[in-house]
Amino acid sequence: MSWNVFVTRRIPEPGLEILRRECEIVDVHPEDRVMTREEMLAAVPGRDGVLCLLTDRVDEEVMAAADRAKGFANYAVGYDNIDLEAARRRGLVVSNTPGVLTDATADMAWALLFSAARRVVAADKHMRSGEWNGWGPMQFLGADITGATLGVVGTGRIGENFARKSAGFAMPLLYTDPRPNEGLERDLGARRVPLEELLRVSDFVSLHPPFLPETEKLIGERELGLMKPTAVLINTSRGKVVDEEALVRALRAGRPGAAGLDVYAEEPRPAPGLVELENLVCCPHIASATTRTRSRMAEMAARDLLAILRGDPPANQVCP
Ligand code: GLV
Ligand code: GLV
Repeated sequence: MSWNVFVTRRIPEPGLEILRRECEIVDVHPEDRVMTREEMLAAVPGRDGVLCLLTDRVDEEVMAAADRAKGFANYAVGYDNIDLEAARRRGLVVSNTPGVLTDATADMAWALLFSAARRVVAADKHMRSGEWNGWGPMQFLGADITGATLGVVGTGRIGENFARKSAGFAMPLLYTDPRPNEGLERDLGARRVPLEELLRVSDFVSLHPPFLPETEKLIGERELGLMKPTAVLINTSRGKVVDEEALVRALRAGRPGAAGLDVYAEEPRPAPGLVELENLVCCPHIASATTRTRSRMAEMAARDLLAILRGDPPANQVCP
């Protein structure tokens, strides 16, 4: 076809191959970084479709500049970077990449949970510093995982997958979600409780809601204050679900006792003081970053972009 598409940053090759097989022009932004607004506004005119990333803010202005586009395929499961109202008004189709990153993201939440609970990063740093003077009964005491109470906030695809992976650790399971999750209740004896109760009782709290106006700063100063001083907070969803400044103060005060974060309110700039905290394990938004997962995301986004170009509904349509 004579389609002309734009990809806002280099993605794994399998996705680009799918696009090249059916499009005449597949341009990829040549630099491996987030595009500036000016670059974006200059790159999208005349394109039949755009494959964009969660780091691209796709708003009214970008959509207006994309004067020929039928839609945007977002290379992410979250799509809070896209103004869906504006897309709807303009009749633009938007797709995302659910499912393929569920395991990888849930695995990463566990990696952060283990690291924060057992102080893996601090211990690693200590080893590398050359200061280790031998085994000690009081060194790097952490929190037990097996048998601890696990609280899962949001039991959609990723939250449920994360919760199911606790089965080997004999963890009493609490969850909060607007909807009951019968599978978790049946298979793991999970109990649906109000957020406040979950925060008070859980030893580990892992956040998996989508980012919506209702979930902005869902975990603020008051909520953090409800957590046990020994509790660990994990966030692999979206940074803005947590009041990050309040979290810095709370971790300084030791309540909760530790946190593991993969996402931040204003990426790539964490709140002042955050990354200096000893009781924090922090990763740079890498939960879906496995070779296989990122390839599958690329394939899924590419196939959906082609569907959008054909005028067919993409498999993972989020709008309209
Ligand atoms: C990653 O954060 C995603 O939404 O895919
Ligand atoms: C620890 O290394 C132990 O043997 O208890």
